[in-house]
Amino acid sequence: MSDFDGRTVLVTGAAGDIGAAAAAAFAKAGANLVVTDRRADALEAVAAVLREAGTDVLAHACDQADPVAVEGLFAAISAHAGRLDAAFLNAGYGRYGALIDTPFELWRKHVEVNLNGGFLMAQGAARLMRQAGRGGAILFTASTAATHICDMLGAYASSKAGVRMLAKSLASELGVWRIRVNLVLPGVIETAMTQSLIDDPAVRSDAISNTPVGRLGKPEDIARLAVFLCSDAAGYVTGAEVLADGGQTLHGYPRWFSADYAQAGAEFIPHTQR
Ligand SMILES: NC(=O)c1ccc[n+]([C@@H]2O[C@H](COP(=O)([O-])OP(=O)(O)OC[C@H]3O[C@@H](n4cnc5c(N)ncnc54)[C@H](O)[C@@H]3O)[C@@H](O)[C@H]2O)c1
Repeated sequence: MSDFDGRTVLVTGAAGDIGAAAAAAFAKAGANLVVTDRRADALEAVAAVLREAGTDVLAHACDQADPVAVEGLFAAISAHAGRLDAAFLNAGYGRYGALIDTPFELWRKHVEVNLNGGFLMAQGAARLMRQAGRGGAILFTASTAATHICDMLGAYASSKAGVRMLAKSLASELGVWRIRVNLVLPGVIETAMTQSLIDDPAVRSDAISNTPVGRLGKPEDIARLAVFLCSDAAGYVTGAEVLADGGQTLHGYPRWFSADYAQAGAEFIPHTQR
């Protein structure tokens, strides 16, 4: 018997690399799965693999920035499973760009997807957990960018810093319902989100050279941590932010872009080109 036998776990961003790896890890641990993502076709493909391995899976695509769509997701979970024991709130959106030139719509998208969407998902999950009266676990994927300055990622970092405070506030308020809330802060993980940067061999080797464990992260590194933090083994852990960055932030955030401050008006360019 595992902690997750008979339990239902929600994974958001499940069509993405970290989400798909986490869904597979929760399934391996014995959980029934609810997977969601904005991208319906890719989500179905992830669900099909899980079903083939014998896992009970509800796949329900939705845009987490849309309150009506998120309400529909939780109604579907209620109808399908009647309970929710853990939620790995992992979907996220990030684009590079200088804040001074970021169009408001792009800024707003970061806040809507990461912070507003994170709030809607957490609230929906917590309400189902409260209703069932069995407690539960909520885990957010933030980022090392939630706690460090990273040039050209200001909109992303600001929204993830909001997610960090959201998680800690929820950890306090939801304690009365025996719901634990934690955060994982990944460093550079090899996924679709970082591909455009680490496909450049110079950037990749620079990042590895600045990572004490000597490699970049893999989706499974985060997936294993997510299973642990949502399991009974982590029953005394709440309000925690767990770094999973191979030690990258021991020396500060890896500098993807930088500018020569001695030159007024200097542009931020890829750090490896300076
Ligand atoms: N890859 C990294 O280095 C890294 C580092 C730190 C944090 N993160 C965070 O990890 C999480 C997973 O990212 P990933 O690296 O697997 O990238 P990914 O692009 O493979 O996955 C992100 C997923 O989120 C989904 N998504 C985006 N907007 C959505 C919306 N409005 N509604 C529903 N789903 C939406 C996407 O469709 C995608 O499947 C994200 O929150 C990301 O910010 C990633």
